[in-house]
Amino acid sequence: MDTPQYNTDIVRSFILWSVIWGLVAVLVGVIVSVQMTNPELNFPPYFTFGRLRPIHTNAGIYGWAVGVIFATFYYIVQRLCKIRIWSDKLATFQLWFFNATIIAAAVSLLLGYTTSKEYHELEWPVDIMVVVLWVAFSINIIMTIIKRKEEQMYISLWYMMAAIIGVAILYLVNAAAIPVSLFKSYSLYAGTNDANVQWWFGHNAVAMVLTAPPLAMFYYFLPKSTGVPIYSHKISIISFWSLIFMYLWTGAHHLLWTPVPDWIQTLAMAFSLMLIAPSWGSVINGYLSMKGQWHQMRDNYLVKFLIIGITFYGLQTLQGPMQAIRSFSAFIHYTDWVPAHIHMGTMGWVSMIAFASIYFLVPRIYNKELYSVPLANLHFWLILTGQLIWSISLWIAGVLQAGMWNAINPDGSLTYTFMETMVEMYPYWWARTIGGVIFLTGVLVFIYNLVKTIRSGEKLAPSAVTAEGRA
Ligand code: HEM
Ligand code: HEM
Repeated sequence: MDTPQYNTDIVRSFILWSVIWGLVAVLVGVIVSVQMTNPELNFPPYFTFGRLRPIHTNAGIYGWAVGVIFATFYYIVQRLCKIRIWSDKLATFQLWFFNATIIAAAVSLLLGYTTSKEYHELEWPVDIMVVVLWVAFSINIIMTIIKRKEEQMYISLWYMMAAIIGVAILYLVNAAAIPVSLFKSYSLYAGTNDANVQWWFGHNAVAMVLTAPPLAMFYYFLPKSTGVPIYSHKISIISFWSLIFMYLWTGAHHLLWTPVPDWIQTLAMAFSLMLIAPSWGSVINGYLSMKGQWHQMRDNYLVKFLIIGITFYGLQTLQGPMQAIRSFSAFIHYTDWVPAHIHMGTMGWVSMIAFASIYFLVPRIYNKELYSVPLANLHFWLILTGQLIWSISLWIAGVLQAGMWNAINPDGSLTYTFMETMVEMYPYWWARTIGGVIFLTGVLVFIYNLVKTIRSGEKLAPSAVTAEGRA
C-alpha cells in the first residue's frame, strides 16, 4: 500500500473526473471537426459549431488539463513536502465544486451565455465559482508547502506555485466586469484596452495552465520513471525564473497589426523570441537527463510519453516565437495554421505528459500492475499518429489558405474569392477528423486499460515499495 500518511483518495477522484472530462473534450472536438466538413450537422440553436466549440475548449483546458493538474499536484505536493495535504475536507469540497463548475460552464455555454472572450467565456456567476474553486485549491497547496517537512523545494513545487498565483492574478484581472443581469455582464475595459487585457490573460493562460503545470509534472515524473535524477537543478531553476519573467510580456503577439500601440506589439514580439531560451532550457535538461538511459525509450512506455511530450513542447516553443514575428504573423494569422499550433501543444505536449502522469499514478495508488503494457504502447502510437495527422494537415491547409488570400491579379484585384479558399480547405478538414478519430480511439484504449487495471490488475510486487512510498 502507499504510505498511509498521504491522502490518495483525492488523487484517485481527480484522475477519474479529469479522464471523464478529457473524453468529453475529445468527443466534442471530433463533433465540431465534423461540423466544419458537414455544416448540415449543425442543429440550431444548441448543437451548433458556435456553441459546441467553446464547450470543447473549456472541457479540454479546464476539465481535462486542470483536472489532471489537481490530481498530480495533490500527489506531488505530499511527496515533495513529506506531509499529508493540509486539509482533506477542503480537497473534497474542491472535487465536487470542480465538477459542479464544469457542469455549470457546459450548460451555460450550451444555452448561449458567453462573455465572448476566448478561454474566459463564462458569465459572471460561473466566473465566481471558478474563483472559489481556485482559492480552495490554492490555500490547500500553499498551506501544505508552508507546513512541509522537507526543507529543500524541488523545481516542481516552484512551477506549481507559479501556476497557482499566476492563474489567480490573470483570471481576476480579466474577469473585471459589470453585471447587468443574471447572465450578462460587460467588461470593465473598453476597445484596445479590453483586447490587450484579454490576450495578456489568454497567452498567460497558456503559460500558467498549459506550460508551467506540465513542466512541474515532467520534472517530477521523468526522474521517477527513469530512476535517474534530473540532469541539472541549476538549469531547471534558471529556466523557471526566466520563463516566468518573460511570459508576462508576450500577450500582445496575438494582436499584431491591430490598433494596439506599436511599441506594445514590438515588446511582445521581442519577449516571445527570448522565450526560446528558458523553454529550451527545460527541453535540454530533459534530454540530458536521459544520458545513458536512451534505451528506456524502447523498454519503458512512460519514458516514451514523457520524452515525446517534451519534444512537442520544444517544437511548440520554436514555432510559437516564429508566429510572433510581425511578417510571419501577417501570413498565418487567421488561418488554419494556428489551430495546428495549438493542437500540437494540447494533444502533443499537454496530453502526452498528462497520460504519462496518470499511467504512473494509477498502479501506485491502486496497488495494481498496469493491466497491459502493449495496450499502453498502442495508445501511444494512436495518439501520436492522430495528433500528427491533425497538425500536419492543418499546417498545409494554413499555408495554402494564406497563399490564396494573398494572391493578387495584375490589375490588383484578389485572385480568389473567400468561398473559393474555403472550398479548398475541405480535404484538410477531413484529414483532421480522421486524425481526431484516431486520437479518440487512443483515448478509449487508455480508458479501457485503466479500467481493467483497477478492476482486475495483478497486485504490485512488494519489492516495488520504496522508503518514499513507491518508486
Ligand atoms: C515560446 C512559447 C510560445 C510562443 C511565443 C507562442 C506564440 C503564439 C502566437 C504568436 C500565437 C498567435 C497565433 C495567431 O493567432 O496568429 C499563439 C497561439 C496559441 N498558442 Fe502558442 N506559443 C508558445 C507556446 C505555446 C504552448 C506551449 C502552448 C500549449 C498548448 C500554446 C498554445 C497556444 C494557444 C492555445 C493559442 C491560441 C490562442 C487563440 O485562441 O488565438 N502555445 N501562440
Ligand atoms: C480528437 C482530438 C481533438 C479534436 C478533433 C479537436 C478539434 C478541434 C476543432 C475542430 C477546433 C476548432 C478549430 C477552428 O475553430 O477552426 C478546436 C479548437 C480548439 N481545441 Fe481542439 N480538438 C481535439 C483535442 C483537443 C484537446 C485535448 C484540447 C485541450 C487540452 C483542445 C483544445 C482546443 C483549443 C484551445 C481550441 C481553440 C483553437 C483556436 O482558437 O484556434 N483540443 N479543436
